[in-house]
Amino acid sequence: MKNLLVTGGAGFIGSNFARYMLQKYPQYQIVVFDLLTYAGNLDNLRAVADDARYTFVQGDICDAAAVRAALRKYRIDTIVNFAAESHVDRSILDADAFLRTNVMGTFTLLQAAKELGLERYHQISTDEVYGWVDKPAVEDDPLIPRSPYAASKASGDLMVNAYYVTHGVPTTITRGSNTIGPYQYPEKVVPLFVTNALENKPLPLYGDGKQVRDWLYVTDHCEAVDVVLHHGKIGEAYNVGGENERENVEVVKMILDTLDKAPDLVRRVADRSGHDRRYALDLTKMRALGWQPRHSFEQALTETIRWYENNAWWWQKIKSGEYREYYEKQYGERLRTSEAVTV
Ligand code: NAD
Ligand code: DAU
Repeated sequence: MKNLLVTGGAGFIGSNFARYMLQKYPQYQIVVFDLLTYAGNLDNLRAVADDARYTFVQGDICDAAAVRAALRKYRIDTIVNFAAESHVDRSILDADAFLRTNVMGTFTLLQAAKELGLERYHQISTDEVYGWVDKPAVEDDPLIPRSPYAASKASGDLMVNAYYVTHGVPTTITRGSNTIGPYQYPEKVVPLFVTNALENKPLPLYGDGKQVRDWLYVTDHCEAVDVVLHHGKIGEAYNVGGENERENVEVVKMILDTLDKAPDLVRRVADRSGHDRRYALDLTKMRALGWQPRHSFEQALTETIRWYENNAWWWQKIKSGEYREYYEKQYGERLRTSEAVTV
């Protein structure tokens, strides 16, 4: 029997993880603790809503009393922290919420884990903490984050390590690469481009489109977290990548080809400020635990595209709300001054 508090479990990866764990472990109880920001969505958890082993609590990870109350009430032994502000472009527009949730929220959870003597605190981190890399990063490389988002996540990692070293909190960290799959909010490039293409709207490609990301399918990410929870070494960090490095132009091309859409939908727009050219991870440490990604880039992207084609109800609801305001702020001027580009 394990009782997991999955913070941020109403977001993209957290909701996939909650469903994954409920399916894999019949004896586990999963309590999703989520503030329901713009990115949190109970539609993501509809499939498990009637499962007696699942509970939803609306709460803020920065609220120490609410966190402690949930830990006590549900006899939690393990926290898996997915809760975060997760979008780089929003952190460039305004970083305030990023520091609050990604730094202070992480600290609040660690402090509670220490006081209540939890069995494990697991932090979901990102390959962006290493910054722009020339060769695949290993876990002991220096953290050189370059965006406010990445800096807030790196700060979280440092605090996790400090609580392990100083207070003996049993921590682990996973640093995942660009994850795709069902229920990803359509601000991130793949769901944004897929849903725009389905609506015959322009695809705003930043700069020269030659930036490289490593693409990971969401169930592979969830499986890696599960492996680290059960077999990872306390106090350690683990890289979780898809071994699918691709330039953005290749990703756009494949989306258009799969959906049979014309290449003139792509518009070159003003670049992201401080745009990292490449993220890449060395997976030796995770492989030693017996894990490796199961999805090729083609499988991961095709499955993701098919999900968005078949679940327009999910993303159309999102795209009609607060999203429009954000879209205008982020892309209005960019698209008005964009140019045609051949991909
Ligand atoms: P997401 O934006 O889809 O979801 C974040 C969730 O956290 C939302 O449900 C939101 O309501 C919740 N949340 C935000 N602030 C909160 C607070 N103060 N208290 C409680 N809940 C709060 O994010 P995601 O893409 O699923 O990412 C999950 C985690 O994985 C993040 O920590 C992110 O940094 C990390 N990560 C993401 C990727 C990726 O490609 N998406 C890759 C590597 C790591
Ligand atoms: O690497 C892991 C990280 O991946 C996670 O930690 C973050 O939470 C997640 O948002 C993601 O960050 P990126 O900045 O890499 O993802 P995003 O989808 O925003 O952008 C991917 C690439 O596509 C990047 O090079 C910027 C480019 N892009 C993005 C958007 C939104 C565009 O060209 N146009 C766009 O409109």
